[in-house]
Amino acid sequence: MSEAVFLRCIRPACGSTYALTDQRYVCASCGSLLDVAYEWGRLAPPKSLSFFGSRWGTRNEPLNYSGVWRFRELLPFAPTHAMVTVGEGQTLLQAPDVGALDIPLRSGRLHFQYEGMNPSGSFKDNGMTAAFTMARFLGRRRVGCASTGNTSASMAMYASLTRHSDGTAMRGVVFIGAGKIAYGKLSQALDFGALTLQIDGDFDACMKRIREAADRLDLYLMNSMNPFRLEGQKTIMYRVLEGLGWEVPDWIVVPGGNLGNSSAFGKAFIELKELGLISRVPRLAVVNAEGANTFYELFARNGLRWDDGNWDQPVVRQMYDGLTATGRKAETVASAIEIARPVNLPKALRALDAMDGVVTEVSDDCILEEKARIGRCGFGCEPASAASLAGLRRLLAEGTIDTDANVVCILTGHALKDPNVTVRYHTGIESIPAQEPAAATARFANRPIRVPDDLDAICEAIESYS
Ligand code: F0G
Repeated sequence: MSEAVFLRCIRPACGSTYALTDQRYVCASCGSLLDVAYEWGRLAPPKSLSFFGSRWGTRNEPLNYSGVWRFRELLPFAPTHAMVTVGEGQTLLQAPDVGALDIPLRSGRLHFQYEGMNPSGSFKDNGMTAAFTMARFLGRRRVGCASTGNTSASMAMYASLTRHSDGTAMRGVVFIGAGKIAYGKLSQALDFGALTLQIDGDFDACMKRIREAADRLDLYLMNSMNPFRLEGQKTIMYRVLEGLGWEVPDWIVVPGGNLGNSSAFGKAFIELKELGLISRVPRLAVVNAEGANTFYELFARNGLRWDDGNWDQPVVRQMYDGLTATGRKAETVASAIEIARPVNLPKALRALDAMDGVVTEVSDDCILEEKARIGRCGFGCEPASAASLAGLRRLLAEGTIDTDANVVCILTGHALKDPNVTVRYHTGIESIPAQEPAAATARFANRPIRVPDDLDAICEAIESYS
C-alpha cells in the first residue's frame, strides 16, 4: 500500500514521488524542488479550524503549547513522539496604531504578525522545529545550513537542545558569508556551540557550497529547500487566521529573501482551500530590497509566472548568468534578505499564482525609516522585517492595495538581531564612543544626548525634551 505522506516534485508535468524518508531535497528526474504531499482522505484533518482552539485548554502539554505543533493535523508527517519543541511560535497578531504609523489604512485594518517573539528571535524557529523533527526521525546527527544569520541562529539553538532517543546530541554546522552577518545573529550561532564557517563570499556562495558539502558528507540540509522547513512555516498563517478569529485577511505582506516564507504561505492556503477549511485565499505581496531584487526583476519586470509548473527556466538562467558575468552581488542594509539567487523561486511563483500575488521592491532608506516608525509603535524589528511595511506603503500609494483592505505584515525578526544598524540610523555613527558627538540626519533619528554628571544639567535636558 502506498503511503499517505510522501515527497512529490512540484512540477505537475513531472510529478515524481519519493518516500518520505528518502532524504532528498530535489527531484531525481528533473531537479525541481520537492513538496511534502499528503493524501488527506487517508489522514485525519479537522473539519473546522476552530478545532485548534480546543488545544488552549491543555497547553501545559508541550506539543499543545507549541505554536507549530498545536496545528499538527495540518502537517502530519511525523509521529508525536518524534516532535521537537522549545515552545516556538508563541507569537501574537498585533494591531499597531495606523495613525502613529501614518499609514493610510482604516483603523483596525493593519496587523503585525510579530515573529521576532520566537525563542531564537525570528520566524525561522517555525520551520526549524519541523526540520529537526524530521532529522531526529531519520536518525541524522549532523545538520548544516547556509545563512544570512537567522537560519543559523535557529538551527544552532535546536541542534544544541535536540537529543536522539539514545541520548546522543546533534552537531550543527553553519556557513556564513564573511562580514555578511549581523552580530546579534552571529553571537547566537557561537553561543549555541555550532561549528561556524565564515566563507569568503556571500550568501549565494555559501548556499552553493553547503549543497555540495551535504552531498559529499553525512550532513542533513536545514535550509528552506528542505521541504520540512516549509511545513513548519505554514503555521505562521494558521496563527494569523486564528488571531483574526479564523477570518481570512485581504493581504499578507512579507519580505522576500530565499522565498521560503512566501512559498510556505502559498502551500498553507492551497491546502486549507483544498480541505474546505477556508472559502477564499488572501492576496500575497512579496517585498524585495532594491539591492537584492531578483524576484522583483523576474516577476514584475520580466513577467515570469508559475505557468502550471512550466515557468520559463531559461529566463531565470539568463538572469543568473547576467549576475555572474557582471559580478553583481546582492547588497542591502537588510542583510537577512541580501540574496540574489533565491532557492525557493519556483515555489514562490506557485504561491503568487495561488494567491493572486504581487512583488515589489523598496529602497534601504525606506526600510530604515519604516523600521524606526515600527520601533516607535513598540514593535522592535530588524531591517528585513521593516521591508514589509515599506512595501505596504508603496503598494497603497500605487493603488494596488486598497485603503479599505485588511492587511497583515509579517515582522520576521527581532530588533536586537541587528543593533548596529539601529544605532547607526539614530546616531549616524557605528557605535557610541565616550567622547564622540552624535550626528544624524535620519528622519526619525533619536540621538542620545550627552550630559555632564550634574543634576541641574540633567534636569535641564529632561525639561527641554517634550
Ligand atoms: N526576514 C528575516 C529576518 C530573515 O532572516 C529572512 C531570511 C527573511 C526575512 C526572508 O525570508 O528567505 O523565507 O524569503 N533569512 C535567511 C537566513 C535567508 O539565512 O537567515 P525568506
